[in-house]
Amino acid sequence: PAPTEYQAENATISQGVVESNHAGFTGTGFVNYDNVVGSYVEFAVTAAQAGNATVVLRFANGTTANRPMDITVNGVLVSDELAFPATGAWTTWSTATVTVPLNAGANVIRTTSTTAGGGPNLDRISV
Ligand code: GCU
Ligand code: CA
Ligand code: CA
Repeated sequence: PAPTEYQAENATISQGVVESNHAGFTGTGFVNYDNVVGSYVEFAVTAAQAGNATVVLRFANGTTANRPMDITVNGVLVSDELAFPATGAWTTWSTATVTVPLNAGANVIRTTSTTAGGGPNLDRISV
């Protein structure tokens, strides 16, 4: 099936703000993570059936440093400090991809910053 898009600006946000001041996002904006360890965005994702799914995260990182994030699914760490490298500008958007196990029905995917720089700016995920 075609991927479903979940906009970060519509997700549950802890220690982050919705902004739209850097062009190139989709939907109505993106999440600017607070630049602290532990800031997160949490998505409620529905799967038709149990099994592995590909998650594509669309982000921008206008710094020169990696902004890694832990990816958990239903509370279980599935990607430890996934890299979100520099994209060259806050208006230049790239993607990171991870394969995650989903349950049939409701799932919770959380993307949590692991360094003092916080996460990248996050536009959306596609599942
Ligand atoms: C700048 C930029 C933000 C970004 C922040 C950061 O302030 O405008 O969009 O989130 O840097 O370094 O995290
Ligand atoms: Ca930020
Ligand atoms: Ca968006």
